[in-house]
Amino acid sequence: MGRFRVGVLTGGGDCPGLNAVIRSVAKSFLLQIDAEVIGFEDGFLGMIQRRSRPLEYQDVSGILAQGGTILGSSNKANPFEYYLDNNRDVSQEVCDYFEELKLDALVTIGGDGTMSISHGLVEMGIPIVGVPKTIDNDLVGTERTFGFDTAVHIAAEAIDRLHTTAQSHQRVMILETMGRYAGWIALHAGIASGADIVLIPEVEYDVQEVARVCREREQGGQRFTIIAVAEGARPVGGEMVVSSIDETSPDPIRLGGVSHLLMEQLKGMIKSEIRATVLGHVQRGGTPTAFDRVLATAFGNHAAFQASKKEFGCMVALQNNQLTEIPLKEVANKTRTVPLDDTLMYAARAVGTSFGTQNLPAKRMRCPV
Ligand code: F6P
Repeated sequence: MGRFRVGVLTGGGDCPGLNAVIRSVAKSFLLQIDAEVIGFEDGFLGMIQRRSRPLEYQDVSGILAQGGTILGSSNKANPFEYYLDNNRDVSQEVCDYFEELKLDALVTIGGDGTMSISHGLVEMGIPIVGVPKTIDNDLVGTERTFGFDTAVHIAAEAIDRLHTTAQSHQRVMILETMGRYAGWIALHAGIASGADIVLIPEVEYDVQEVARVCREREQGGQRFTIIAVAEGARPVGGEMVVSSIDETSPDPIRLGGVSHLLMEQLKGMIKSEIRATVLGHVQRGGTPTAFDRVLATAFGNHAAFQASKKEFGCMVALQNNQLTEIPLKEVANKTRTVPLDDTLMYAARAVGTSFGTQNLPAKRMRCPV
């Protein structure tokens, strides 16, 4: 029998920690079972366009702390609807290329789009293990995706910086985070940096209530207000703010701009000056935090372990702080949003954070006797 041959790719939008996973998958295979590791370039685009290269030890050495992905990524290349060829289904050609390369397994590192494609390819017979990536932390079946901690760290630091300038000028400062349809980044960064108001897609905000909190602070001596708003947040009865539509992308809607909408809405309702900052792709770039490097290494090794056992059709996951795996079909085409009864929602409100509404369920502390 020849050496075990495994392919690896990074799909979808990039995020900090991708290289740490590539390194972990490749080194686990190279060092533990002397496997051959093949990297596909630019995610599924490389599988469609037949672009791959061997990954040797030296290729994956020294990349642990590097942002981005040494393999490149694409958030448009779906083999079931290939955007560069009239949305033709080229999945069989992808399977043929996989066969020609004589691969025994494929590790796909990506978010919900990548996991949905992986699920489709598993149904066609490709043996796949997925690794959950995204700064949005919105994949079902796992408490954490790698990249999220780094994004939260960057957003929290940005809010800390806005805090001091808000204080100096007695302003209302709004920071808009990414996160798509989930408010995880805004919630965590808002809590970490003591934002006064956190607005997330899961809770429609009432602009009157947001203004009331700002006014209360104006009059109460604090004289400034910090608002963390997720890009998917929307006012009561309103829509999410779409910044652009990319028809070539399987997920064409790009959100962005709610911080400016909120600024306009608040004008005239409060005395303070208001400024909005959109953090954008800064949240996705640069070196991963130590936590994300550890998680990426653990996920990568667990994926290699699963593949070496020939247990495919799953995504590695973190549940109850333990490494485990979940069937891809349970992950595909789903989004994990913030539950309104999440402990952090209660914790934030308990320390006085507003979610821009009076309509959240109460959880009162009792006075021990
Ligand atoms: O899913 C990651 C993410 O950064 C989202 O938070 C954001 O809405 C989207 O990708 C931005 O996509 P793009 O990189 O195509 O602008």
